[in-house]
Amino acid sequence: MSRLTIFEDKAPGQPVLRTEDGDTIARELAAIGVRFERWESPVALSPDDSADTILEAYRPYLDRLMGENGAGSADVIKITEATPNKDALRQKFLSEHTHTEDEVRFFVHGQGSFILHLNGRVYDAHCTQGDLIAVPTGIKHWFDAGETPFVTALRVFTDTSGWVAHYTGDDIADRFPAA
Ligand SMILES: [Fe+2]
Repeated sequence: MSRLTIFEDKAPGQPVLRTEDGDTIARELAAIGVRFERWESPVALSPDDSADTILEAYRPYLDRLMGENGAGSADVIKITEATPNKDALRQKFLSEHTHTEDEVRFFVHGQGSFILHLNGRVYDAHCTQGDLIAVPTGIKHWFDAGETPFVTALRVFTDTSGWVAHYTGDDIADRFPAA
C-alpha cells in the first residue's frame, strides 16, 4: 500500500500526517512540486520479465511522460535480495542528496521510499507497485528500499549523469529511517 508520512524535520517519530489515500498523497506532494500518480498497469507483468518486455508494455505511458518533461530515455532497474551490490547501491542513495535532473520513477513491482526534505518538513513517500513519482531537480531527498530490497522501476531521464547523488552533508537521513 502506498503511504505518505509527514514530519517536522526537528521531530522524528512524531508524524503530523500519515495517509494511505492516493488522492491525499498526490495533493500533499503536489503542494511541494512533486508529481505523484497511481497508474493502472496495462498488462500483467511478472518480476521475471525482461527489461524490454517491461519497456514495451509501458511504451505509451513513457512516451507521454517523456513528452511532458522533455526527458529522452527510459530504462528498467531491478534490485532484489540477489543483486550482488545491493548493499552498496542502498548506501549510495541513503544519505540526503540532490540531482541535476528530475528523478522520475515508476514502480513496476515491489516498493521503496523516497524521503524528501524541504520547507522544514520531511515527506516520506512509500511507493509501491503502480506508483509514479517525479522528484524535481535540486530537491533534497534520500531513497531506501530496505535491507531486503524488491523493486523493479522504470527510470525516465535525459542524461545518466543526472543520477549522480550530490550529497548535502546533512546527516538528517540517520534520524528519519523509512517509516
Ligand atoms: Fe535520488
